[in-house]
Amino acid sequence: MGRLKVGVLISGRGSNLQALLDACADPAFPAEIALVISNVAAAEGLDRAAKAGVATLAIDHKDFPDRESFDAKMDEALRAAGIELVCLAGFMRLLSTGFVEGWRGRMINIHPSLLPAFKGLHTHAQALAAGVAEHGCTVHWVTPALDDGPAILQGRVPVLAGDTVETLAARVLEAEHRLYPEALRLIARDSSLRSE
Ligand code: GRF
Repeated sequence: MGRLKVGVLISGRGSNLQALLDACADPAFPAEIALVISNVAAAEGLDRAAKAGVATLAIDHKDFPDRESFDAKMDEALRAAGIELVCLAGFMRLLSTGFVEGWRGRMINIHPSLLPAFKGLHTHAQALAAGVAEHGCTVHWVTPALDDGPAILQGRVPVLAGDTVETLAARVLEAEHRLYPEALRLIARDSSLRSE
């Protein structure tokens, strides 16, 4: 059986994309990244993908009159590339319900908190303000409500005395880079997602 064909949506740095690219570089890994789409043409993640020999596409949301038409363009590109699973990796646009429904059960996201705690933005500041002893990241299925779909895997890190947003974010990011490839491996082993 072939490897699961993955499309990754990004907006910026792409360090999670890099973790996925590195995992997929192993021919024994059950998934391959076939397309990376960014809504920001200057995103560092596009260079990472190109260096790995992966097809890239910049689709600027500002070129579209509304969210639905932008999402439709991404949908068309993903389907044309034969994508079987979409990974959101720091994609900073809300997705329309139609797009999410069209990829239901075939789209995952990584969020920098132990969901359901700390949805949305500034999760590390939220965690510090709440005074929690443990923080982390979640890979979850994407559903129409933001950061709300069923969790697949979570990575836990301690919150240490003296932590700042920066030190905590760095500790969580390391956990993200381990967690996302592991979640992708689990999903890709499930042959029911493959179209062949
Ligand atoms: C990560 O913290 C991820 O959890 C969140 O956005 C950030 C993206 O970072 N969704 P990068 O672009 O993968 O480096």
